[in-house]
Amino acid sequence: MAIAKIAPSMLSSDFANLASEAERMLRLGADWLHMDIMGLLFGDAEEECLLTWHFVPNLTIGAPVIQSLRKHTKAYLDCHLMVTNPLDYVEPFGKAGASGFTFHIEVTRDNWQELIKSIKSKGMRPGVSLRPGTPVEDVFPLVEAENPVELVLVMTVEPGFGGQKFMPEMMDKVRTLREKYPSLDIEVDGGLGPSTIDAAASAGANCIVAGSSIFGAADPGEVISVLRKSVVE
Ligand code: DX5
Ligand code: ZN
Repeated sequence: MAIAKIAPSMLSSDFANLASEAERMLRLGADWLHMDIMGLLFGDAEEECLLTWHFVPNLTIGAPVIQSLRKHTKAYLDCHLMVTNPLDYVEPFGKAGASGFTFHIEVTRDNWQELIKSIKSKGMRPGVSLRPGTPVEDVFPLVEAENPVELVLVMTVEPGFGGQKFMPEMMDKVRTLREKYPSLDIEVDGGLGPSTIDAAASAGANCIVAGSSIFGAADPGEVISVLRKSVVE
């Protein structure tokens, strides 16, 4: 069975004090730091790409911030790339010191094999994420490939912002993945906290991203420990 990983989403942290926020989360028991990368595609975009110029309606951080944070921590930086052109970011994120590189299935078309290979060659762990409207079957080939992804991130809100409501109907995807792949890292992201963790954990999720429920709590360490206790190892 996959090991529990609690990953505070740094999107809800004080970005002006990122290094100390990261240190605080690790001290309170976090395993990973979840870094939400939301970008904008510049340059010679292909015609079809123009329609998805923004993958999500927000902008956050890029490789320079990962590079700065890496100087302050040895922690596992779980990078979730909500961008339309993930391949362009593999090299900069590898150099910056990202640990995991999770891209979205909706933007990979048929270049996912190249993407996975490139992520691994830069020393990062490849993961694939799917939006709420994307069928879970779309990621099966990437998990079953000769050179597979090592993590599947099931979005439990529409990506773009923290603080949204958990979508329990996404748990069918988690259950399906867990039945098929007993040792796969299955991550859930969006609206996770003490009131929703049981649904996610019983469906089989083992990597738990939580932003507002941790950073907004009076006792964030207590929330991390509640999340951890609910995930069966
Ligand atoms: C949304 C991000 C999430 C977000 C989660 O696009 O991928 O990581 O920060 O925030 P909460 O836990 O507040 O829903
Ligand atoms: Zn995320």
